Amino acid sequence: MEASEPQPKSGPTVPIPEQQQPQEQQIDPWSVDAGKDSQGNALAFDYVAISKKWNTQLIDEKLLERFTKLTGHKPHRWLRRGLFFSHRDFDKVLDTYERGESFFLYTGRGPSSGSMHIGHTIPFEFTKWLQDVFDVPCVIMLTDDEKALFRESLTFEQAMEFSMENARDIIAVGFDPKKTFIYSDLKYFSNHFLMNAWEFSKLLTFNQVRGAFGFNESTNTGRIFFPSLQCAAAFATSYPELWSDVPSATRSETVAKMQCLIPMAIDQDAYFRLLRDNCHRMARPGPKPALIHSRFLTALQGVGGKMSSSNPNSAIFMSDTPAQIKKKINRYAFSGGRETLEEHREFGGNPDIDVTYQYLTYFEEDDAKIQGIAEAYRAGTLTTGDLKKECITLLQEYVNGYQTRRKEVTDEVLELYMKPRKLEWGRSHTKTHNPHCAINDLMYYEITRPMTGADSAIT
Ligand code: TRP
Repeated sequence: MEASEPQPKSGPTVPIPEQQQPQEQQIDPWSVDAGKDSQGNALAFDYVAISKKWNTQLIDEKLLERFTKLTGHKPHRWLRRGLFFSHRDFDKVLDTYERGESFFLYTGRGPSSGSMHIGHTIPFEFTKWLQDVFDVPCVIMLTDDEKALFRESLTFEQAMEFSMENARDIIAVGFDPKKTFIYSDLKYFSNHFLMNAWEFSKLLTFNQVRGAFGFNESTNTGRIFFPSLQCAAAFATSYPELWSDVPSATRSETVAKMQCLIPMAIDQDAYFRLLRDNCHRMARPGPKPALIHSRFLTALQGVGGKMSSSNPNSAIFMSDTPAQIKKKINRYAFSGGRETLEEHREFGGNPDIDVTYQYLTYFEEDDAKIQGIAEAYRAGTLTTGDLKKECITLLQEYVNGYQTRRKEVTDEVLELYMKPRKLEWGRSHTKTHNPHCAINDLMYYEITRPMTGADSAIT
């Protein structure tokens, strides 16, 4: 524990407010609030309660064991440690993989001017890991349209520029260019994508959208239509150029059957509940898109908050210098340690509410080491200062690796990822299949490709 650094604390130093109604947690795609107790103190998010309320499945040991057996990979540390904690039909995706069929990944980001922080990069890192493990294509939607619709002062032109900058940030995560398509909504939407979105919007009533998002009669009509766009992105037929050199002229029934898996933070679930409840009514239906949900990344200030771009001291940004990272962790990371070193040695600290410890669990791969750290912290043999030093080093390495890759994203590289083109994955690029069969058969082959057997562990 560093006695010289003032440690933010809750408890007796905060004046006790009057008794008030406890406030329930509130989560939607535009604002999240963990709620307050009857004293007005911020509570931590209750993820089990969210999962129950929205009827999602919690990720359990059994599911992870099946994943390991099937893929030969150890589950990512974010699965082992519950950062990705919930799903809808992920087991069905595993069935698809077991049958030797392919699926595709879809995720996205609302582009904003600021540099991404670690809370933004984590879902992308995880999606890239899924892409490597399953050897599948991935589409990444940049919702510049959504950002401009929801932020009064933002023009559509500015939002589109943010998309281009954010695409570079996402490329720096390391997605395979052969298997990845990144697009700006405002630039890309046309043809089958729009047809899917219009068709889907025809199935949705204002009542349904209002129920999911709390809109009212004064909400602008763009916001009311937008959910159909975010949902249509989960239909493989929205991207005819990705599956064949000669894109199908009409929306292909075979392509529509391709399973989609959407990794996301739990706040996006409202969109995809609408999708899953209504997609079977499309003219060419496919399997219900599967979802895998993450928690929110804890803000530096403590477990009740979420990292936010509008508060630079709440998060580690991917543009931070090593000195800034050190300062932020030392100065702002909420400590579960004791007031003085003597007390800490005697009574020990609490890693469960310690933000530095939480961040260590995001980035330290070694489970035994993490467990050892938690035990030593509880016993008081490890101080907050020791913990912070360890965490600072890991974060500096992570951000530095990212910044190096970000510098390599030239205009040409950007263009490569954002060009609609046939993606190549699994065996689809080996051309060992019969070149004379019809386009639809070709697509069928590519989509239901047999497993290569080369799915060895990623190092
Ligand atoms: N609406 C999301 C945001 O504002 C962006 C997004 C679009 C997304 N499609 C997605 C996020 C799919 C996760 C999964 O950030």
